[in-house]
Amino acid sequence: MKILVTGGLGYIGAHTSVLLIEQGHQVIILDNLENSSLRVLDGIASITNQRPLFYQTDLRDRKAVVEIFNKHTDIDGVIHFAAYKAVGESVEQPLKYYDNNINGLIALLECLIPQEIPLIFSSSCTVYGQADRMPIDETSPMKKAASPYGYTKQIGENIIQDCALANSSFKAILLRYFNPIGAHATAQIGETPNGEPQNLIPYLTQAVAGKRTELRIFGDDYDTPDGTCIRDYIHVMDLAAAHLESLLYLHEGKNSSACECFNVGTGKGNSVLEVVKTFEKSTQKKVPYSIVARRPGDIVQAYADTHKIEKAMGWKAQYSLAEALQSAWKWEVHSAHLEAQ
Ligand code: NAD
Ligand code: WQD
Repeated sequence: MKILVTGGLGYIGAHTSVLLIEQGHQVIILDNLENSSLRVLDGIASITNQRPLFYQTDLRDRKAVVEIFNKHTDIDGVIHFAAYKAVGESVEQPLKYYDNNINGLIALLECLIPQEIPLIFSSSCTVYGQADRMPIDETSPMKKAASPYGYTKQIGENIIQDCALANSSFKAILLRYFNPIGAHATAQIGETPNGEPQNLIPYLTQAVAGKRTELRIFGDDYDTPDGTCIRDYIHVMDLAAAHLESLLYLHEGKNSSACECFNVGTGKGNSVLEVVKTFEKSTQKKVPYSIVARRPGDIVQAYADTHKIEKAMGWKAQYSLAEALQSAWKWEVHSAHLEAQ
């Protein structure tokens, strides 16, 4: 298949692009480099021995996007990663998020729908908010979004569903990721947060590497077995595989409706302290940490019921938490070398 990957030089997009190329598919990457760099393209090329065609283009630049689709009239599918994702920033600058995440999606849909190109959309478990029942299955209702970022994912899903209703030949899959972590086994690509990391794993690995004084664990007085919050941490390469399976699923006409949503997680919840202990055991590195106050807006627990995607596509997470954390650590060490170059 020939696949256009928007945001293909970002964290999840780069890992997915590698997997697609390794599986013999042709990848075209569109990215404006706002949260990535050409070094990632080098990483993809070094892993796969192929340099995918790359367009440094902003998705909101409708003319440029139309030109890409006019040039490539045989695209079999689009995976749409390009968006802003920083929850806190979205609270401070909501328009920035509504503009990019919604207008980018609309610009893309305007090209996809007339050409009947299927779409895989990066959604998030954030659309559920604090769900009433664990594990969370896809019938769990969308609660009021906790942030403008979360709201852009809810709106994005609704826009795509409406388009599928209105255009019988347009097909889409909404993948609701839980917490993606880890890196490619080669450590040639990984997660590169800008400035101080907001997410647990990059903060943890930076604390172990000495770039941060210590990991601050946000609260140990939650109603969970050890008092810390519970999440479903999924290896980014497992997540990448879910995108490929989704494309094949649509390609082979196995979908039961024009637009379906699927959770992508491991189905297992781990607490922050369990993550710390598993990291220490699997890397033999001590994590410097202290317990601090709760982080406002954090939900207590979120982990996926993954039966729907397993049954529909035969996809299941393969990597353990320990393997994901080892790969994150290997990337932390390797990226420090890259930075030093
Ligand atoms: P990322 O920031 O690493 O990657 C996004 C990429 O898109 C970046 O390379 C950025 O330069 C590019 N981009 C952003 N706006 C663009 C635009 N207008 N035009 C062209 N390129 C643009 O993020 P990620 O972690 O790889 O996330 C990918 C997607 O998955 C996002 O939609 C995100 O909301 C979603 N998601 C991420 C997580 C997570 O924890 N990482 C969880 C759930 C969902
Ligand atoms: C995980 C756990 C923290 C940092 C975010 C987005 C969500 C989705 C996934 C995109 C929590 C704790 C964290 C730290 C800590 N992204 N923690 N110290 O909050 O589940 O979700 O990423 O769609 O929208 O909100 O992930 O990695 O920030 O936190 O103790 O320095 O680690 O309290 O319990 P979260 P996270």
